[in-house]
Amino acid sequence: MTETASAPAQETPKGTPVVEARNIVAGYLPGINILNGCSLTAYPGEMIGIIGPNGAGKSTLLKAMFGLVRVHEGEVLLHGEDITNAKTNRLVEMGVGFVPQNNNVFPSLTIEENLRMGLFLRPKKIGSRLAAMWDLFPVLHERRTQRAGGLSGGERQSLAMARALMMEPSVLLLDEPSAGLSPVRQDETFLRTRRINQTGVCVVMVEQNARRCLQICHRGYVLDQGRDAYTGSGRELANDPKVIELYLGTLATDLDDEAPA
Ligand SMILES: Nc1ncnc2c1ncn2[C@@H]1O[C@H](COP(=O)(O)OP(=O)(O)OP(=O)(O)O)[C@@H](O)[C@H]1O
Ligand SMILES: [Mg+2]
Repeated sequence: MTETASAPAQETPKGTPVVEARNIVAGYLPGINILNGCSLTAYPGEMIGIIGPNGAGKSTLLKAMFGLVRVHEGEVLLHGEDITNAKTNRLVEMGVGFVPQNNNVFPSLTIEENLRMGLFLRPKKIGSRLAAMWDLFPVLHERRTQRAGGLSGGERQSLAMARALMMEPSVLLLDEPSAGLSPVRQDETFLRTRRINQTGVCVVMVEQNARRCLQICHRGYVLDQGRDAYTGSGRELANDPKVIELYLGTLATDLDDEAPA
């Protein structure tokens, strides 16, 4: 069966959220807050999209959840446990994976070495995790002895995602995984991300390709000026007049036939 673009309908989310950001106030410089009370909840099994204008704070939100930007107010919870401002190493150990948009591989190391680095905390599992990644990313297997510096942008994104998956995270934070890719490669990236989600990994992805993101994610958040301005299913967001006015423009009409229920 051909894989379609839209996400399967998901029942109303239940249970303890896998990850939750509550009223986050955070910024890079003292006295200048970029996030001004921003919240996001991802329940087990969910794939969540974050969209919004440039500079809205989308990357900052992911970084605040991964301990890379200081949270001044609010809290970040992982399976109900407070992880606000926790160290990155600890978060990785606890099952949070993060793939930044840029500088996400070690260019002078080979593909396989990059993946091994991803599992430095649990060396005993190397064999089985490498096998799982070769299965998910056959192209990386073919080129496993080559240096990562020679990979294309899309291949680097795949490698960065594979490296984050080596630790078997329960949540994967992705910053613009499809950026800079051709439409075909973008599509592959979205479908692969959904396959990863279907293996039980909760996915929170920032996307500039709002149309595709709302089609494939269970729920979305529209960020504006450091706040979660709107949230809902892809279809709800795409049809919300305020969201259309703020961000989607004429996009919504195209979406109508394809958005998940
Ligand atoms: N390292 C930094 N130091 C200071 N300010 C920063 C830093 N990174 C981002 N900012 C500022 O924070 C604000 C939000 O940036 P952020 O990167 O979170 O936006 P974004 O929604 O991800 O935008 P884009 O769609 O362009 O990626 C911007 O005004 C930006 O200039
Ligand atoms: Mg960004």
